Parts: sequence; C-alpha cells; structure tokens
Amino acid sequence: MPALPRQPAFTTTRSQFPEDFVFGSSTSAYQIEGSSFGGCGSSHWDTFAATPGNVVRSENGAIACDHYHRWQGDLDLVRDAGLKAYRFSTSWARVLPEGRGPVNQEGLDFYDKLVDGMLERGIAPHLTLYHWEMPSALESIGGWRNRDVTDLYADYAQVVTKRLGDRLASIATFNEPWCITWYSHYYGAHAPGLRDIRASSRVAHHVPVAHGKALSAMRAMGLENLGIVLNFEHISPLDDKPGSIKAAKIAEGIYNRWFLGGITKGEYAADVLDLIEPHMPNGWQEDMASISAPIDWMGINYYTRALISEGDTQPGDVLPVQLGNKGALPRTEMDWEVYPEGLGALLEWIRDNYTGELPLAITENGLANKDQLINGTVDDQERIAYLDAHFKQALAAIEKGIPLKAYFVWSLMDNFEWALGYDKRFGLVHVDFDSLKRTPKASYHALKAMLSER
Ligand code: FCB
Repeated sequence: MPALPRQPAFTTTRSQFPEDFVFGSSTSAYQIEGSSFGGCGSSHWDTFAATPGNVVRSENGAIACDHYHRWQGDLDLVRDAGLKAYRFSTSWARVLPEGRGPVNQEGLDFYDKLVDGMLERGIAPHLTLYHWEMPSALESIGGWRNRDVTDLYADYAQVVTKRLGDRLASIATFNEPWCITWYSHYYGAHAPGLRDIRASSRVAHHVPVAHGKALSAMRAMGLENLGIVLNFEHISPLDDKPGSIKAAKIAEGIYNRWFLGGITKGEYAADVLDLIEPHMPNGWQEDMASISAPIDWMGINYYTRALISEGDTQPGDVLPVQLGNKGALPRTEMDWEVYPEGLGALLEWIRDNYTGELPLAITENGLANKDQLINGTVDDQERIAYLDAHFKQALAAIEKGIPLKAYFVWSLMDNFEWALGYDKRFGLVHVDFDSLKRTPKASYHALKAMLSER
C-alpha cells in the first residue's frame, strides 16, 4: 500500500478563501464528555459497549476525554488555533436521563455554560441535537424503530433549544442518518447493533420523520439556521461488470441518495425504495411533505471513497453489504482510502442535483493517523497533507460558485472512536488517555499558522 503523503505546512492560504468563510472543528458529546459524569442517563452506546465483542477492548465513553470537567481548556484550544466555530452535540441522555420526563438541570446547565464559554472566546456555537446517543430507556421501547420516539425527539429538541437557542449560530437535527440507520441496524456495527432489514427500513424513515417534526417545532419557536448533517462517500463500481455496476448503483443510492432526496425533494431514491418498500412503515408517503420542509443549510461529512463489485451482493441479497477498501490509494488508520477528489465531485453533484443555492458546510473531514507523542510533540504531517488536499477541493468548489460556507475539521482532539475504541486518533490535539493530558499536534500548529495569515 502506498504511504500517506506528508507535508510540514499548508499550501492553501486563508486569504484564498472568502473573508466570511468559517473554519471550525467538530466533536460529539459521547466521544469526549464522559457519560458517567453529571447525572447523565444511560444511552444505547453505554449498553452496546458493555456487551462483549462490540467495541475494541470493551472500551466505552464513561470518561472519554473528561471534557465534562475540562471544557474550558478545550475551548481555549479551539480559540488559540484561530478557529472561529465549534461544532458540538448535546447528549439526549444527559439532558433527559429517561429520554423524556424530568430534565437533568446539571446537564442543561453544562451546555449553557459551554455555549457561553464559546461566545466569550469569540467562537460560534454550532449545535447538533443527535450524534447517536439514544437514551437506553427509549431504546427499550424500540428506539428509532418506534415512531413514538420521533415525537419524544422533537420534545427533546425543544428542551435544548429553549435554553440554548438564543445563542446558536446553527442547529443540525441529526448527524449522519446513514450511520444511524444502516451501520447501526443493518450491519450491526454501531449501537444498537441490530442486523435486521425491517428495523433498518423503519429507521430509514423514522429519522427523517423526527427531523421534520423537530424542524417544525423549532421554526415555531422562531429559531433560524436549521439544517441536517448527512454523510457521503464517493461510490463507484470497481470494474465494468454489469453486476458491479448494479451493486454500486444500489450502494450509492442507499448511502448518498436516500436521505438527500428525502430531505431536499420529499422523494426517496426510487431504486432503493423498490428493494425495501415491503419493510417500510405503512403510510410513509404521508410524511414526505414534513420531511422535506425547507432547511437553511446542509452539512456534508466526507472522508473517503468506496469501490463496489458484484461480489458485494450475494445472489438473493437485497442490498450490498460490504463497502470500500478495494482501491490502491494510500489508506488512513481507519483503512479508508484518501480520495480528496471525491469531495469536489460530491459537492458539485449535490449542488447540481439536489441543493441548488442552499448553503453547504463541510461539517466533518479528517483522518485517523498513527500519531505518536515523542518528546512532547506529535509530528502528524500526514494530517496536514490530508487536510490541505481537501481544502483545495473546497476552494475549487467555491470558485465554481458552489455555496460552500464552512469547513469543520474532525476532530478537535483524539476521542472515543465508537466501535474502534480509543485507538483511532483523529484529533488536531493529542490526548493521552491515561493522564488525559492534551498536546497540540504539528497539524494544530500548522493550521494555526495558516489561519493567522491574511
Ligand atoms: C463520523 C462520525 C464521527 C466520527 C467520524 C470519524 O462518521 O460522525 O463521530 O466517528 O466519523
């Protein structure tokens, strides 16, 4: 496998981007806060991680980066890098330990202080309401398989935004419906770890329904800058065999077109619908108007490409079950190929076919790298090369007139990478998971230099 490119500094400059272009970093609640602190309720990630075999070394987010206690220093790191925006999420179980009913005031107060802390430092708060922690009490009644949970989610969205909504730069209802749906209920790789097509087909609809309900509730509260974050891979056939072309088309429909079409046009990808319609909830058509109510922006998470071949679908399978890892490009520690061109191609395709003039943001992009702390420094030149190559794609998109407004690095600091535990380091800042000490990496310093130049 070719080695990852390395470079000591960015070649793109801040002044090449529009003045009002936003550079930020992203995190999520369960991955950094520490779910054992502050009266947080149990989420399905706590129970999934407690089940042997689900997470590497049975690690969990009980302590994570202890951001719950160290948030002030963490926000200082955001500010000192010159980043003017921070994408964070609120944990449903921290705010409502039973998913509904009594509020954990300490949890809500925590987010309130966090938002004020950002504003004091000149950092714009970008909230995501659901970055994957379904309260266990609601998972017990079926989680996203149960339509009633969509109403409870809209209630939760209102509790959070009533308190924080006056100070937020933007609100996303969901992070990555594809992962919530297929990765978690069909591949079984993430909580709740199901492998069931009926479950996934219901979730594929109920998450958009919940998005629509929360959106309408927040609109009624007068809130602005409401959107959703979807994830994309650049998906193409590995070869020109008809079976590969067909499998790639379906994989691409599931991954890239299902939620995008539902949210922006009120139409699910027809070729995918043909396959899963028998498993969808009755009367789903009646929800499409609410699902596709106008949003103010869309977030795009992009990391890699996938090459699909006919072997990914066994005869009789409804959907291809394997993704990626077949190409010859350099790969990150996630075993993901580095393919910056895919970002540019997707931005153009999304704009041309779905979003038109709707403002877009890259809400996640970054790499897991074999970072090592040696004599107090981490020389992660691979991360600089990776980010720089994707910045170039962002710049080219802007030059083509695509309304791309922001770019958030995943992630501010190393954290709990879900089923892969603490091994996969995505941060600009290194975290020692024994001492919890933070050390800015070479990429942090390089980015800071890039952002301070005008
Ligand atoms: C995305 C998730 C994020 C992180 C990155 C690496 O799918 O949204 O939490 O795990 O991948």
